[in-house]
Amino acid sequence: MPKTGSSAPPAPPKKNNAKPAPGTPARASAKPPAAAPSGSALEIKDTRTSKTYNVPVADGAIRATELKKIRTNDPDDTGLMSYDPAFLNTASCRSAITFIDGDKGILRYRGYPIEQLAENATFLEVAWLLRHGELPTQPEYDQFIHEITFHTYVHENMRKFLEGFRYDAHPMAMLNSSVAGLAAFYPSARNIFDETERNISIIRLLAKTPTIAAFSYRHVKGLPFVYPDNRLSYVENFLSMIARMSESKYEANPVFARALEILFILHADHEQNCSTSAVRGVGSSHVDPFSAISAGVAALFGPLHGGANEQVLRMISEIGSVKNVPKFIETVKSGEGGRLMGFGHRVYKSYDPRAKIVKKLADEIFKVVGVDKDLEIALELERIALSDDYFTSRKLYPNVDFYTGLIYRSMAFPTDFFTVLFAIGRMPGWLAQWEEMLLDKEQKISRPRQVYTGLPERPFRSKLKAK
Ligand code: CMC
Repeated sequence: MPKTGSSAPPAPPKKNNAKPAPGTPARASAKPPAAAPSGSALEIKDTRTSKTYNVPVADGAIRATELKKIRTNDPDDTGLMSYDPAFLNTASCRSAITFIDGDKGILRYRGYPIEQLAENATFLEVAWLLRHGELPTQPEYDQFIHEITFHTYVHENMRKFLEGFRYDAHPMAMLNSSVAGLAAFYPSARNIFDETERNISIIRLLAKTPTIAAFSYRHVKGLPFVYPDNRLSYVENFLSMIARMSESKYEANPVFARALEILFILHADHEQNCSTSAVRGVGSSHVDPFSAISAGVAALFGPLHGGANEQVLRMISEIGSVKNVPKFIETVKSGEGGRLMGFGHRVYKSYDPRAKIVKKLADEIFKVVGVDKDLEIALELERIALSDDYFTSRKLYPNVDFYTGLIYRSMAFPTDFFTVLFAIGRMPGWLAQWEEMLLDKEQKISRPRQVYTGLPERPFRSKLKAK
């Protein structure tokens, strides 16, 4: 196996024999689901052929490949597929990382309720937990902090790369391309089935993302870059790289530092959401982790996903005043005004437990910095939406992004930087899910089927002038 720093091509992945990282408990995905107990099956009668099939049910799911056995007598029939645009009801993996009960508003990382983690844990403790399945012991934690702290610097050429962007570049575009660019700095990261390589790549991504994010911020502001300060904690160091000017020793506002730590914890994982599915999907081609994670950053940029926190504040600014809220809600309901950003969720159909914590956190922040000028508009939007049949009948409740923007703004982060903060928080989740996917014996290159709706075969007749 090539050493770190070598640019040798990746060794062919040894399927099924990759070892889990040290301390990694046996994963639920390490062995395929047990055969369904007798009687635990779905009986399907195909009215096209009058044949009956028994499809085993395990863990509340049937295997879609079982449907392939259901065929007509047509020799061209390759078997029945399930059609599920946007994966509304398709499990793409078995995962032991995050549990969500959307009807009850429950979110747990490795079994621990999000409320308890937000209250008591550090972000890096949660990062360790997500990857390894258990909370770190003191020696494990100390070693982890040491490794993260001593990988926060980026290559000077990465700094130059960031300087090449225009003054008005969106920081998510900068983050996305820089994370992808790290693959060029660490070619041996392509050895994804080498445990040592995987580990150092994970450390690098956790350690360097705040540095890249802060450099993007300083670049857009036209401020000199602040290099990492290894005496500071993860969050304090990030705030130092963002805000430090000429102070000889930077001291972060402790309320801001803790608030940011909590927000990072709340964002750390959310099972098979759009960006995580992007990371898993791209990673399933066995590309290096920097390329796979940059796919997650790209997906997060979108306004229906992590980009919603930015859009909430833009929406509130456009509304302008509390008196305009009822009219705005009407435009949302009629479809003219777009969506009520920060509302609704694919999975949560009662409330988003993260939103509850964020709202409480906002109150604590506003006690320190004063109430945000737009809080009244946000509260009025929430009040009307929660009592309006359009929203209640569709089970649309405030999601995590509804109040985070107001908190970030009160900390003086620019609006287009909000999603970058989400990305820093989500990094441990993407990495844990990426590694779980790689070590899952059942996973293969991600490749959905399609229902072809195009034309049948036809002869080629060029429409160009005769050559
Ligand atoms: N405002 C108004 N109507 C909405 C909204 C909304 N925010 N969200 C969903 N609807 C309506 C939608 O028009 C549809 O109505 P109808 O049945 O009459 O056609 C119905 O509710 C179901 O919507 P959907 O698009 O099928 O729901 P989905 O599960 O595919 O979408 C969502 C989930 C989060 C993309 C969507 O609720 C949305 O666009 N919300 C606003 C953007 C947002 O806040 N995103 C952040 C999500 S939380 C952070 C994260 O994890 O990314």
